[in-house]
Amino acid sequence: MTQYQTLADDEVVLRDGTIKLHGPEAFAGMRRAGRLAADILDAMVPLVRPGVTTGEIDDAVRQLTLDGGAVPATLGYRGYRHSCCVSINHVVCHGIPSEKALRDGDIVNIDVTPLLDGWHGDSSRMYLVGDVSLKARRLVDVTYECLMLGIAAARPGARLGDIGAAIQRHAEGHRYGVVREFCGHGVGRLFHDAPEVIHAARAGTGPELRPGMFFTVEPMINLGKPPVKLLEDGWTAVTRDRSLSAQFEHTIGITEDGCEVFTQSPKGLDKPPYS
Ligand code: MF3
Ligand code: CO
Ligand code: CO
Repeated sequence: MTQYQTLADDEVVLRDGTIKLHGPEAFAGMRRAGRLAADILDAMVPLVRPGVTTGEIDDAVRQLTLDGGAVPATLGYRGYRHSCCVSINHVVCHGIPSEKALRDGDIVNIDVTPLLDGWHGDSSRMYLVGDVSLKARRLVDVTYECLMLGIAAARPGARLGDIGAAIQRHAEGHRYGVVREFCGHGVGRLFHDAPEVIHAARAGTGPELRPGMFFTVEPMINLGKPPVKLLEDGWTAVTRDRSLSAQFEHTIGITEDGCEVFTQSPKGLDKPPYS
């Protein structure tokens, strides 16, 4: 049975498996953290070009996060030593910033999580490096549509499975694979909390959505089959069949009549092409 817990304004509860229900002050905190995440991702647009290294992207994310009065939640998280994840082509998620340079034709996900005044804003977008093939651009477009269809299913009274059902239906309709090994997650004062937001699910299943719930929706969609494998570094997840993979992520809050997307781009740069 799913348990819910209504939090007072300044109440901090550790990971206890309950789904937290937040009030107006928490929404205000998430709005600010989400806005900073969006501003950081907006600022990546001119940086993403051939020759730029993923380490340079990480440096820029760290600086923008600190300039915004936040800290990167990934820094020191379970031993992770970087300020963001940069996942290129067949890397599904958790690509580690390095000396590796972006190349013409790459598709790249940048995933940032500023922790601002105790609240986590978790978001990622895809970027196109130079000339990208039509099939890769289609994958990116459909993955963004999957995210937004999932979010459109998020309202009070719906079930968590309705989100995954909408995503799976759209992705599989295009013969793409929905990654099962990684999920969206409750978020707020904690980076990763209950519930698990699975991206392939049956409609009408899972916990009921209630006002005050905060969670991410972050579908990873493969051009090929769903399975992923983890590289030796213990972080980098790649498609088993080496097919391209795309992901977008928003942090949302359930409201009385729908949901609020905390990480929407103020400049309308939510998906490529950005120019
Ligand atoms: N931002 C990722 C997410 O969407 C988590 C990255 S954890 C890290 O949940 F340690 F890999 F950075
Ligand atoms: Co996330
Ligand atoms: Co993220």
